[in-house]
Amino acid sequence: MSGRCAMKRKAGRLLAITLLSGLFTICARGEEAAMLDGKALFHEKCAMCHRVMGMGTGLLARRVDEPFLEKRTDLTADYVIHAARSGIGNMPAIPRGEASDEQLEAIATYLAAGNAE
Ligand code: HEC
Repeated sequence: MSGRCAMKRKAGRLLAITLLSGLFTICARGEEAAMLDGKALFHEKCAMCHRVMGMGTGLLARRVDEPFLEKRTDLTADYVIHAARSGIGNMPAIPRGEASDEQLEAIATYLAAGNAE
């Protein structure tokens, strides 16, 4: 009888560990989404065109005073998201497979940070 009881306790402990680790995984994932680094993502997804000598920088230099998106103070997050999702001028649209909504939002927030609004 005591043997079976011990088995039950062991199973109970296993179940608790499984539940706890599941909970931990969910929490860790939530944190990951909240901690998306807009600056790092901008460099990963956009900088190939928006750095020094990039095609975006070169073309923007023709029509705006500050061609570096990171130095702009007039960008709103909405404008950045719209430009990236729809494409603008010679910039191709960035699909969700390239940058997820969460990632693009983090990038847009980072680029809009210089905006006083
Ligand atoms: C393939 C190259 C390329 C990539 C990748 C790219 N861009 Fe661009 N981007 C451009 C070009 C070229 C322009 C200038 C468009 C024009 O005026 O013809 C531009 C313009 C923009 C503008 C408009 C600025 C203004 O003043 O109107 C925004 C905002 C922008 N890009 C954001 C982004 C973001 C955010 C990413 C990354 C998610 C990104 N771009 C990735 C090429 C690129």
